[in-house]
Amino acid sequence: AAVKKYQFDIQVKNVSRLCHAKPIVTVNGRFPGPTIYAKEGDRVLVNVTNHAQYNMSIHWHGLKQYRNGWADGPAYITQCPIQTGNSYVYDFNVTGQRGTLWWHAHIFWLRATVYGAIVIMPKQGTPFPFPQPDREEVILLGEWWKADVEEVEKQGNNLGIPPNMSDAHTINGKPGPLFPCSEKHTFAMEVERGKTHLLRIINSALNDDLFFAIANHSMTVVEIDAVYTKQFSTQSLLIAPGQTTNVLVRANQIPGRYFMAARPFMDVPIPVDNKTATAIFQYKGIPNTVIPKLPNLPAPNDSSLALSYQDKLKSLNSAQYPANVPLKVDRNLFYTIGLGRNSCPFCVNGTRLTASLNNISFVMPRVGLLQAHYFDIKGVFKTDFPDKPPTPFNYTGAPLTANLRTARGTRISKIPFNSTVELVLQDTNLLSVESHPFHLHGYNFFVVGMGIGNFNPAKDPAKYNLVDPPERNTVGVPTGGWTAIRFRADNPGVWFFHCHLELHTGWGLKTAFLVEDGPGSNQTVLPPPKDLPPC
Ligand code: C2O
Repeated sequence: AAVKKYQFDIQVKNVSRLCHAKPIVTVNGRFPGPTIYAKEGDRVLVNVTNHAQYNMSIHWHGLKQYRNGWADGPAYITQCPIQTGNSYVYDFNVTGQRGTLWWHAHIFWLRATVYGAIVIMPKQGTPFPFPQPDREEVILLGEWWKADVEEVEKQGNNLGIPPNMSDAHTINGKPGPLFPCSEKHTFAMEVERGKTHLLRIINSALNDDLFFAIANHSMTVVEIDAVYTKQFSTQSLLIAPGQTTNVLVRANQIPGRYFMAARPFMDVPIPVDNKTATAIFQYKGIPNTVIPKLPNLPAPNDSSLALSYQDKLKSLNSAQYPANVPLKVDRNLFYTIGLGRNSCPFCVNGTRLTASLNNISFVMPRVGLLQAHYFDIKGVFKTDFPDKPPTPFNYTGAPLTANLRTARGTRISKIPFNSTVELVLQDTNLLSVESHPFHLHGYNFFVVGMGIGNFNPAKDPAKYNLVDPPERNTVGVPTGGWTAIRFRADNPGVWFFHCHLELHTGWGLKTAFLVEDGPGSNQTVLPPPKDLPPC
């Protein structure tokens, strides 16, 4: 195994998009940031030096960081931020994982511009369990705001509804020619006729689930969230913020220029956000004067297509890559997702935007939860997060107002080492329904079931897929529906669990799991590195 070293200089740079230049926070002056390359088993050292006037923290999204939450990155969960002028080395091993993941700022809304890909190749001599691609490309889907992202964040947290839509969607940081002044800001991927191309697609958008398609070309899905899947062919795919999808694309059409496009799968009613980002799938030797063709993207709100797409995702579950789904559950959790305006006597209009799990809206601590746990600092968090909602109700029935007295607190769940957990996430109709991509740090989980309406504990578990369910780190909870996940709590530490829509995270749609140390000396949280940023 090799040691891979990277230097990340956090610096502000002027970048122009949509006819305006504005200063943005970048890594090494690049937008999107550099790709981290590693092989399974490598050790990676990323020295992050903060030259900007913002606090910074970087998360390596999807890396399990076994016993090593210190390198996970979410601000105030596993570390305090890296302050201006300071550095911190994220030091981690890439063990038992290969595929496409990504990294992003994990503080405020800075991930709007501070993000990049992580490409982990299999060990030397281990082939992919799918046809070897001739070429490959990283495709980062994102969003662009004309306004300062901090201002957008403030507006989101204070005013909220209608959501702070971005002014453009982007592919590798570029909106493409359907946007004003964006002819120059168009990403092109060169392809070769007859060759197979691996696209490593990452949704780094802040607030949008996206559909993605390539005109005239079908895609074969081979991996999601750095886990191999059973292959299937599709015209379009759905990808939520936080998720990654690897597809093979054969350049088997008349040589030309074809648009790749991404557009929101937006199921909040108003305003409809249907802005389309485009990039070019360009056959070698074809001149830029050829006008590309747009692909057919699914219609916004096509939730039956969204469900049927998710249904096709299955773990490869081969002898070499078995799906070890926990069959017996030690701890059953049931979390309702609440979103809406709650009464707040001291706020303007007497209400405030709140998002909650089991009616608890998470309050960010001032000390990292992992530090508080490791050093036994009292009063930072409570481990009394309830296993189920305070009162059962018709979750997806008529909008409720009775259950809006959301509590606030830094409350998390304590899980014994190596116990198996089933968590059902239930969307509710408290004012608005929306699909939510939930992300668990430190783990992958198996998505054993998903459905529309209220979860039925008497009937639905019988329909679970316990053989080859998709294994991932981020999963969508369908609008007005539920998702059931299972995982084995074998990674000690404090692990953030949140909606990956930044707007919702900001409103409190988050909590954490404290997984206790195991009995073995190699089953405990590692000691913190010396340069861990102080609080
Ligand atoms: Cu990609 Cu906690 O995030």
